[in-house]
Amino acid sequence: RVKQGFITFDHVSFIYPGTTKSVLSNVRFSVNPGERLAVIGSTGSGKTSLFQLIPRLYDATEGEIRIDHRPTTDYTLDNLRRSIGYVPQSPLLFTGTVAENIAWGKEHASTKEIIHAAKDAQIHDAIMELDNQYQTKVGQKGVNLSGGQKQRISIARALIRNPKILMLDDSTSALDLTTESKLLHAMESYECTTLLITQKISTAMRADRILLIDEGKVLAIGTHEELLHSSSLYQRIVTS
Ligand code: GTP
Ligand code: MG
Repeated sequence: RVKQGFITFDHVSFIYPGTTKSVLSNVRFSVNPGERLAVIGSTGSGKTSLFQLIPRLYDATEGEIRIDHRPTTDYTLDNLRRSIGYVPQSPLLFTGTVAENIAWGKEHASTKEIIHAAKDAQIHDAIMELDNQYQTKVGQKGVNLSGGQKQRISIARALIRNPKILMLDDSTSALDLTTESKLLHAMESYECTTLLITQKISTAMRADRILLIDEGKVLAIGTHEELLHSSSLYQRIVTS
């Protein structure tokens, strides 16, 4: 059983610095070690903002976020971020090889580890079709990759570090259902707490629980069945 990666949002509110609009209001929930939580909600509801608070890309305006019972502000940024594999909504690749982009953030990654992570992220086959395979240059001065390919390289970059917490922001949106299914299956072998933002109910249903947010507030958290019974918004999303 996984023992690490317990996440608590304790009455968290958030306003972007220099603005007045409340983006998250009094958000409260916990995620258990090893649990897979899907986060759904309409565009602009605050999903990405909520994610950004965990590795402290921004700090909560009020309230506290704890990882393994310790406030995130108690960790050094380096230690905090080392334990989190965060795949942003629009991942960036830097100018360098595919292998370097996957290994980024992990010291002394071996070729074997790079290939293993790429296979799990379902991007190995596409890499093998590039002219120079893992040595192909990507980023600004390199080959053009599709949005979905960049997402999967970014997922491989997160997986190779074997993070305590894995966070995917809509990272499977560009994938066909079969590839997405293989990816979610491969991710099950990693002993981490997983948070994944998704637009698709079919993806959310594969999680242990679903967090539904609307206008910066947590409307419901529970299994698909529980939300069907407790949330009219969830019912509407499912039937729409
Ligand atoms: P989608 O990715 O479109 O599904 O939306 P989301 O649920 O991820 O919403 P997000 O957290 O990006 O945005 C929530 C609110 O915060 C919206 O009103 C955004 O306009 C606002 N917002 C997002 N990013 C920023 C930012 O960098 N600065 C400011 N000032 N506002 C932001
Ligand atoms: Mg977003």
